[in-house]
This record gives sequence, C-alpha cells and structure tokens, in this order.
Amino acid sequence: MEALFFSVLLCLSLMLTTTTANVRFYEFIIQAAPVNRLCMTNEIITVNGQFPGPTLEVRDGDTLVIKVVNQAIYNITLHWHGIQQLRTGWADGPEYITQCPIKPGGSYIYRFTIEGQEGTLWWHAHSSWLRATVYGALIIYPKVGSFYPFLNPSREFAVILGEWWNRNPIDVLRDSMRTGAAPNISDAFTINGQPGDLYDCSSRDTTVFTVGWGETSLFRFVNAAMNTELFISIAGHSMTVVAADAAYTKPFTASVLMLGPGQTTDVLITTNQPPGRYYMAARAYASARGVPFDNTTTTAVLRYKFTGCARSRRGLQPPLFPPLPAFNDTATAAAFANAIRSPSAVNLPSPVDEQLFITVGIGLFNCPPLQQCGGPNGTRMGASMNNISFVLPNTLSILEAYYESVPGVFDADFPRVPPIQFDYTGNNISQSLQQPVRGTKVYKFKYGSVVQVVLQGTNILAGEEHPMHIHGYQFYVLGTGFGNYNPIRDSGGFNLVDPPLRNTVGVPVNGWAVIRFVADNPGVWLVHCHLDVHITWGLAMAFLVENGAGRLQALQPPPIDLPLC
Ligand code: C2O
Repeated sequence: MEALFFSVLLCLSLMLTTTTANVRFYEFIIQAAPVNRLCMTNEIITVNGQFPGPTLEVRDGDTLVIKVVNQAIYNITLHWHGIQQLRTGWADGPEYITQCPIKPGGSYIYRFTIEGQEGTLWWHAHSSWLRATVYGALIIYPKVGSFYPFLNPSREFAVILGEWWNRNPIDVLRDSMRTGAAPNISDAFTINGQPGDLYDCSSRDTTVFTVGWGETSLFRFVNAAMNTELFISIAGHSMTVVAADAAYTKPFTASVLMLGPGQTTDVLITTNQPPGRYYMAARAYASARGVPFDNTTTTAVLRYKFTGCARSRRGLQPPLFPPLPAFNDTATAAAFANAIRSPSAVNLPSPVDEQLFITVGIGLFNCPPLQQCGGPNGTRMGASMNNISFVLPNTLSILEAYYESVPGVFDADFPRVPPIQFDYTGNNISQSLQQPVRGTKVYKFKYGSVVQVVLQGTNILAGEEHPMHIHGYQFYVLGTGFGNYNPIRDSGGFNLVDPPLRNTVGVPVNGWAVIRFVADNPGVWLVHCHLDVHITWGLAMAFLVENGAGRLQALQPPPIDLPLC
C-alpha cells in the first residue's frame, strides 16, 4: 500500500519535473547514533545518523514529501519552522497540537508545498527535548528564473548554532520535571555540530568555512539552541544583513548579530582581509538577572584558501578572535533587532479586527502535598501567557479534536487580556500574582481577521527576553520597547512603513513587542517561547483559525497515515 503510494507520487514527480515546481522526496530515519563531543561519546537521537541532520535545499513552489520512520525509543514529531503550511496544518508537527506523536516503530509522511517563501528556515523535532539533537537547515532558493535581491554570492554556507549537554537531554529534562527545579544548563554551544577550539577535545573537528580572497559569500545563520539567545561575531569582517526569518531585509552592516532560538539571519561577508584564519564566535545573550546560564563560547574558523602568492604570515598564526558583547548587553541586542526592516514600504493589513494583550513570563506553582520541590522556596517552576500555563493534551491533538468536534480536549476561552492588570515589569510583584493556572486554551479567529497582539513581558521572578514564535504565520513587528506597554505613548512610535516580517520576535527583557498579521491560514497554530525550558513550563497557547467560505480557504482533510495517540 505504502509502496504503491510512493510509486504514484514518484510518477507524479516525474511528470512535474518538466515544469519548474518539483516534488521532492526524503526519507528521515529517526535513530540513535554515537557522537563524540567534549571528550566523551554519547548516544544521541539523529536523523539518518547525521548530526546536525540533513540540510533540505528546495525552491519556492516545491512540494516536499518527507517520510519519517521512527526507529528510536522515544515518541517524536518534526516541525518545519517558519513554513506557513497553507491549509496543510496536519504537516506542521508540534506534538498534540496538530498531530499525535510518531511512536517508536511508527512512521508518518509530512507533505506540504512552499508557497511564496524563500530564504533560510530550519526543521526540528517538536516533541519533548528531542530538538536538542534533531535539527537541520531548510534552505529555500528562489523559483527558477527569479533571483536574490543582491548580487549572486560566490559561496553559500548554512551556519547552525546548537546547544550541547554531556548527557542525554531527555534525562536533563526528566530530572527537572521530577523536582520542578530549573533544568541543568548546557555544557557547550556548537556551530554545525562542533563546539570549537575553546572546549576540551574539540579543536580537531572545529567547523571551517573555506572562502577565497575578494569574494562575497552568503552565510545563513540559524539559532537552533535549546535555551539560549546568542551573540555572533566574526573577527576582522563586518556582515551585511540581507534577510531574517526567510524574509529579505533592507541591507545594513553589523559587527555583531543576536539571534534568539528559532530566528535566522542571512548575511553577506566580503573576504577582503589579509588572507588567513579568522574566528567566528558565539556566546550567550543572557538577559535574566541572576539566572545561571552556559557562559562558554563556541567558535568556527573562516579560512581563506591559500593560492600561491596570497599565502601570508596570518595563515600560520592563531586565528584572530572577534570582540563579543557582554552577556547582559541588552542595548546591543535591541539595537540589532531594531535595525531589521522590510526592504521597502509594506502593505500593512488594516483596520485591526482583533486586539489582544498577552503577558508572557515565568511563574511558580505551589508544591503538591507530600512532595519535595526544587524551585525557589520549595515551589515548582512554571510559566504562562495571560496567566494560563499551557498543558498539552495527551489523547488527541487539538487540531483533530477541532476537526472532528471531539469535546473535552481543549477550551476556546483563552483570555484576550490578562485576568488582572498590574505593573507587569515592576520590581516587587506580589506573590499572589506569581502563580499561573494550568489550562489547554486556544483563542479563536474568524478567517481573514486582521490581528494585532501586544506581547508584554513580565518581571515575575526574573524578566527575560522571550523569543516568541507563531506557527503557520509570518507577522509584522510594528514596535518593541521596554517597561509596560502604553497604547497612547507607544503606538505613536510604531513603524507602519517598513516593519520587519518575522516568524519569531524577541520580546525585550521587561519590555513588549507589538505584531500584526492576517489570520488567513485555517488550523491550530502553536504560539510559544522558543526557549524550550519555558515551553516546558507552559509558556505557550494556540490560535485557532476557522475556515473561510472560499474553496481555497479551508483546511485540507487529514492524511490517512496521521498517527494515533
Ligand atoms: Cu521552531 Cu514550535 O517551533
């Protein structure tokens, strides 16, 4: 049956190769593989034994058919981060949101078409903490006959930043869930899977990007780290930012980038320095005061190819090291984010039909009776949006429950505003405001609504920048700022001309971000902080977008192989 299905698809793809759009087939085997890092060998979960996983290189307009076979001991799902999944929510991937997980021994075929998107995205596991090792780049080239809005680069590199534990990350998570304490911080960051020269036993395998003198190359940065925002810099070279989250930007030069987990940034680098070796380095932007973080630095090497007379003394010396901002340099992080703009004036959707104001932050749960809890003052760590700490269903996905009208799986009463207004970013937030309420709640939109959301960070326990990601959509970021959002003062400063289009926005530490989009993709779309430690604690909710009346405004029916819970 499956073989037949695949041969039919194969014929279909052969028929289609004569046109410009392709159907591309992949097989992703989820399997454990031994990997040696930081002087020890760990069994990690991989795709096809590769770490990082395979890079998907496709074109806008292509249909991707990815058969995922789970040969690991864990449930898993995969998510195609930033892909809009127009009407194909069943292929989006977050477990218990759009599908039940693929069980060990099971399989599922993700099938979706890329419609009007190009640039750098990525894919990752969306189940438990498997994405610590299960991730890869997803590069979308322009359609045949269309081109980058900049000169064709000499070379292109995907640069995926990761976060590494000297343990099974699932065990790190399990320990923290048992006691309610914060999980252990990581042991290293990685660039394309390698920690680099500053860690023990790592220099031999340091990632090297080989370039020629006088070239301009495109570097596609992805922050795939679990829990850490990262500053990135390259010795001796400035970078010209040309895209973020698979949307082109007005080009600007930067000496340092800052990416939250989930975000991507494409830069052009002209290699016009004395031929030699130059470090690319990344380390934490840790905005939460007094909260422990991995303070290590990952490096890769930008190496000029030596051609005869270009060989110079620099090639023999140790690579130059770039300056990096201090771990708490919020001013640099904010300046970088605010420099990102759409290439030209955008057609901003208006007027706004739905206004939401959603707090995002940490919280604490009282310790259940007869238990020992590891959070502050014997509590359990929590997190919430509008004080609702999100709980995943476990019997059915929300999308299936909605599609098949199965009651009792979720509630559609996520509040439009916080249940209590308070000084969200103040210094001594009362204990009574620190405790969220658990729930599986969605907010429902009519098809085509123009939605504006204020995301307001809180200073409960410790304010922190939250990289907020919305599945199934790209949205305009109209503005960000510090303190409590004030509609009169702050809306005056909105960028209504060329706001950036993103899928993940950094809500500044003890600050706010305002976003706008049209709810024109029916389905159930997870909204969450991309720091996995926070999603684990409940910093998530979902948008439910109803079908429209038109033929192409309705969610497609579910695939026949959609996994059962
Ligand atoms: Cu990058 Cu919910 O995902």
